Amino acid sequence: MSYPYVRPRRMRRDDFSRRLMRETVLGADDLIYPAFVHELQRRVAVPSMPGVERVSIDELLKTAETLCELRIPAIALFPVTAPEAKSLTAEAAWQDDGLCQRAVRALKERFPELGVITDVALDPYTSHGQDGLLDDSGYVLNDETVDALVKQALSHARAGVDVVAPSDMMDGRIGEIRGALEANGFIHTRILAYAAKYASAFYGPFRDAVGSASALGKGNKFTYQMDPANADEALREVELDLAEGADMVMVKPGLPYLDIVRRVKDTFGVPTFAYQVSGEYAMLKAAYANGWLDERACTLEALTSIKRAGADGILTYFAIDAARWLREDR
Ligand code: PBG
Repeated sequence: MSYPYVRPRRMRRDDFSRRLMRETVLGADDLIYPAFVHELQRRVAVPSMPGVERVSIDELLKTAETLCELRIPAIALFPVTAPEAKSLTAEAAWQDDGLCQRAVRALKERFPELGVITDVALDPYTSHGQDGLLDDSGYVLNDETVDALVKQALSHARAGVDVVAPSDMMDGRIGEIRGALEANGFIHTRILAYAAKYASAFYGPFRDAVGSASALGKGNKFTYQMDPANADEALREVELDLAEGADMVMVKPGLPYLDIVRRVKDTFGVPTFAYQVSGEYAMLKAAYANGWLDERACTLEALTSIKRAGADGILTYFAIDAARWLREDR
């Protein structure tokens, strides 16, 4: 029995039945806002990310107030290190009075209910822009880098961060960080592992924002971030990070990698996040600026699609706008 008995359009005819059968509903609870913080008092725009600015800790607190007001659950912090503070060995990454650590303390003091997530990786702090320490040939050393990441994660934990998010893709770092957190009494500090992080060209605008692009130059991250051509390898990475004690896993980038999000969610059934990265944001913003795409409709469609693919939450530079639109729609 088929047409005319079966007419899928019947259910699409009216708003009430479209709403009743809607499978995925995006809400503010699904969003995490990534924020760039710097030492300067003034706001500085990121040219390749229209609408995104680097701000001082004071200004960051105003952003945090907006996030709380909109009921966005968490903020992800990305510090911008001054060139003179960068070094081959990235010591600036684990100073208790460092920019990131001060920002965490200020946020948790003023807005204890807002989840604070910090990036654990050395690239904002290295003079060469790589996520780790180099040997003489320029290869990123794994175990030496993990030791540094442990120091960085502990300094974030001492500052009171809720979630550390290692985004470096070194082997074994989740286990080492988890062990150090436990040994130091930080048993509640969650780990969001950038488990399937690809060597993506879509990170370009982010590297402009944190100032690692010029340091990195023509360098690439192919020896530690994953090949965009691979999918099974992502499952293996997720499996390892979970076994080592990750509480949540991340797939990054977002929209071009929804097959990975779906497979990770179906295979492991754990809290799974996706990062709609800077290049995805830049791409959409460029089209909006030209009047080629509708900003509100396309942004909400992209975010809904990421959730539909299996993401429990999305890191997105659109978080504040999206939460506002969703509130208006209610
Ligand atoms: C650093 C880091 C990167 C991003 C988040 N953390 C860049 C990179 O790996 O080169 C990218 C985020 C974005 O593009 O929005 N480890």
